[in-house]
Order: sequence, then C-alpha cells, then structure tokens
Amino acid sequence: MDIETFLLERNQTRYENDVELNLTESGIHACTINDIIAPAEAAALLNLPLGYGYTDGTPELKARIAAWYPTATQANIAVTHGASEANLISILSTLTTQDEVLFVLPNFLQVSGLAKSFGIEVNTFALSPDRRWQPDLDALAEAVTPRTRMIALVNPNNPTGIVHTPQTMSGIVEIAARTGAYLLADEIYRGAEIDRPETPTYFGHYERVIVTSSLSKAFANPGLRLGWMVAPPGVIAEAMRRQDYTSIGTSCISQALAEKIMEPAKREQLLQRTRTILSRNIKLLDAWMEAQRKRFSWVRPEAGGMAFLRYHLPMSSQALSTRLREEESLFVVAGSWFGLENHIRLGLGVETEQLAEALERLARFAARHCA
Ligand SMILES: Cc1ncc(COP(=O)(O)O)c(C=O)c1O
Repeated sequence: MDIETFLLERNQTRYENDVELNLTESGIHACTINDIIAPAEAAALLNLPLGYGYTDGTPELKARIAAWYPTATQANIAVTHGASEANLISILSTLTTQDEVLFVLPNFLQVSGLAKSFGIEVNTFALSPDRRWQPDLDALAEAVTPRTRMIALVNPNNPTGIVHTPQTMSGIVEIAARTGAYLLADEIYRGAEIDRPETPTYFGHYERVIVTSSLSKAFANPGLRLGWMVAPPGVIAEAMRRQDYTSIGTSCISQALAEKIMEPAKREQLLQRTRTILSRNIKLLDAWMEAQRKRFSWVRPEAGGMAFLRYHLPMSSQALSTRLREEESLFVVAGSWFGLENHIRLGLGVETEQLAEALERLARFAARHCA
C-alpha cells in the first residue's frame, strides 16, 4: 500500500534538532514532570508497576477527559497514542473505500494522506484569507456529494490559528447532518486561545461528531504521546477494536500523568500557562508584522501556537524554508506542507527570547531576498 510522504513530519524529523532556532512546532514549549506532579507525588510514580494497565485508558482518566466536554460521559472516550492515533482509528472505524472525505485546506495533512492510501477518495475544500479563513458555507454545501461520509476539519485551525464562529459551527453541522456524514473535528488546539474565551467543542452538536485531541499542543506535553477520541459509544467500540491492532493501548506512565493533567484545577493551570505564553509572544509578532507590512501579511491568529503568514518574496515556500534554514539556521514550516503556497507557519509557543531572535533573522533574510 503506497502512501504520500507527510512532508511536514518528514522535514521536522530530519531537521528540527539540527538548527539553532526551530519555529516549526505548533505547540508550547514543553512542560516537565515537575510541572505536573509535586515532589511528594513522585514516589507513587516511581512505584507504578510498568504493566499494560488499562489498555483502553483508566476509568479515572476517561472520566476526567469526559468532564472537559459538556455532554460527554466515559462511554464517549477512547484514550489513544496522541491525536495521530485518534485520527487513524477514527478513519478506520467509519470509512470504506466506497466513501468520500471532504477535507478542508490548508490543513495538517494526516487525515487526507491516510485516507488516500486506504483507497478512499479525498475531495478538498479551500479556505481563503479573504474570508478570514472561515468557510463559505454555500460552497461547502455544494462540495458535499451523496458519497461524502466524512467532513474533516481542525478547530481551532492549524495552520491558520482561526477559530470557527458560532455561525460557521452551526452551518457545518447542518451540512454534515443533511447527508448523515461524520464530522471529524480535530480540536487539538482547544484551550490555547489568544486573549479570548475557550473554544466551544463540536462534540454534542450532532450525533455523528467525532472529536480528536491530545496533550500535545494546548497542554504542552507532546512527549507523553497521549490523546483521545470523543465520539458516540458505537464508534468508540469500533475504534477500540482497531486499536487492538494499531498499538494495543497507551503507556501506563503517560496515563498516570494524564490523570493529573486532566484534573480540573491542574488542567486550567496548564492551559493558563499556555495562554500566558501566547499572549506575551503575539505582542512581539504584532509589532514585527507592523514593521514588515510590505513583505508579510496575515490574518492574526486567535488560538493555537502559530501564525500563518503570507509572504511577498520571489520563491516557493519550500525554497524559503530551506534557504532560511541554511542561511540563518532558522526552521519554519513551508505553506505547501499544509497544501497552500506563498505562506509560512511560525511557531508562537517558543521562549520569548527565541521568538525575538527568530524574527530578527527572518527580517534580515527577507530584506536580503526582497525582489
Ligand atoms: C491538527 C493536528 N492534529 C494532530 C496532530 C498530531 O498530534 P499528536 O502529537 O497528539 O499525535 C497535530 C500535530 O502537529 C496537529 O497539528
């Protein structure tokens, strides 16, 4: 079975540890175990038997994840290896090769790459900065065919950092409901809002919503490789039958730490850490964008650890990423790795001093290559 190269992940794996400044991450600089548990709790972790534990997630963890979704119960939760496995088993549980997926672009290209490799037809739907990256709902409705079995989106969005308006949310739900399509909403950036309230979840808006998420982005713990699905119990049961093949289950160490993270007070504390970092860093970028108006433009992000910039320089986004890395040891994501040219994505979740240095290098690079 062939599969297209996941350019974002391949390039990150290849280069992210070889540069002075890595701005390709969309999460927040990572927490340590010290940020999650108090020293007095460490002994319990040191004595944790390293067995399989609950391969589908401890009841306590599932209950705590469910509590973050107003209408969910434990029966709606599957614990997975990051949002990556959640997306994979969501597809495996709901789609056949007779189905089509409607996939919003620009996007994190995991779902489309996987679906295509399974022989599922993927139709794309383009978002535009002219609409502030909100979908044109009439055009979206027209893009749905009788074979559309899933609409796949990311909200808050990667790479644009835009949050769906209430009108967009209800419009998309209505379009999905008209054909009975599943709505796969990857909500991995929920909780990482920039000076605005927490993004409402799609879960509970329609009976065929599948939400995927993880501790990797808003919670700043990608190394735990712990994620989840929130879905109707029948979909969860099918997903668990698939997980028996994909990974059996998640690590008991990650589950133990995830229980602590998802305890409501801790959860809010960690999300607050994220929002404080983003709100501090976006101010740097605001000032920089003002000074760089001739060379870069943007729709200012509302959430997520990233900004998606349109650049006005005479080179492809892949070339820009490569040359910037080679000339300035600064690594940014090429827009083409999200399916959209003439853009780059900058990670906003790095240490503020690193962001300041990165922006200086990017300005220097742009001045040098300006047409
Ligand atoms: C939208 C989106 N979904 C899923 C993932 C994968 O996340 P995880 O580390 O939880 O597997 C990413 C990572 O960049 C992402 O941006």
